[in-house]
Amino acid sequence: MPEPMLEIDGLDVRYGAVPAVRGATLSIGQGEIVGLVGPNGAGKSTTLLALMGAVPVADGAIRFEGRSIVGIPTEKIVRQGIALVPEGRHIFDHLTVAENLRLGLVGRQSKQDVDADLEWIYGLFPVVRDFRRRQAGLLSGGQQQQLAIARALIARPRVLLLDEPSLGLAPSVVETVWQALGEIRSGGVTILLVEQRAQITVGFADRTYVLGNGTIKMELTPRDAQDTERMVEAYFGS
Ligand SMILES: Nc1ncnc2c1ncn2[C@@H]1O[C@H](COP(=O)(O)OP(=O)(O)OP(=O)(O)O)[C@@H](O)[C@H]1O
Ligand SMILES: [Mg+2]
Repeated sequence: MPEPMLEIDGLDVRYGAVPAVRGATLSIGQGEIVGLVGPNGAGKSTTLLALMGAVPVADGAIRFEGRSIVGIPTEKIVRQGIALVPEGRHIFDHLTVAENLRLGLVGRQSKQDVDADLEWIYGLFPVVRDFRRRQAGLLSGGQQQQLAIARALIARPRVLLLDEPSLGLAPSVVETVWQALGEIRSGGVTILLVEQRAQITVGFADRTYVLGNGTIKMELTPRDAQDTERMVEAYFGS
């Protein structure tokens, strides 16, 4: 196991009286791509929001490189090196692609070497360069997703969290995005990939946790992706 980069230990998050995450425990090692799958309402997005300090933690610990980040404001967490590509992308339709991208600079600690990072990002996602003057609302869903990831990367995170990046994308586009995730990891970024599409996620990530009802139910490896029984159990088992 590589050094743990992010650790969640016994996490509880509630919305009012409604429990959304219940004692979830997981860890992500440096340089890993870890999957987190589960059905609607399992608590995937809530777990990511808790990591970003965007929802209050009722109980449990969250550590980034060994230090607690519970109670730290979101901007500070971003500057410490964690970035989220949110569910639904949150692209500003009326702004250009370049303007959307520049919004990510807010989360960056140093304004040095931006050009070098931009070159790297353009290499990963050529559409972001090619369409930089275009209104972002005119891009396709897949292109917007690439822009959303690019915007997160410009903050220079060491950990990248993605919430259902494949949602609504055609399989060939998902392939493009995931190939980029492989390259992003090679560039030294640790990745937590939240998805509903269990089988392709389990096949792609180094390890994948299955979340159900706010609790981690099992951990799967790429070999399990071909094991239909195990995949069904992962989703419907109690
Ligand atoms: N803002 C909120 N207020 C109240 N309850 C919420 C809120 N957001 C989520 N919940 C509830 O918390 C639970 C977990 O939701 P969450 O969005 O984390 O699930 P998810 O796994 O991301 O689901 P999906 O796959 O649909 O995105 C669900 O029961 C949901 O209804
Ligand atoms: Mg969600």
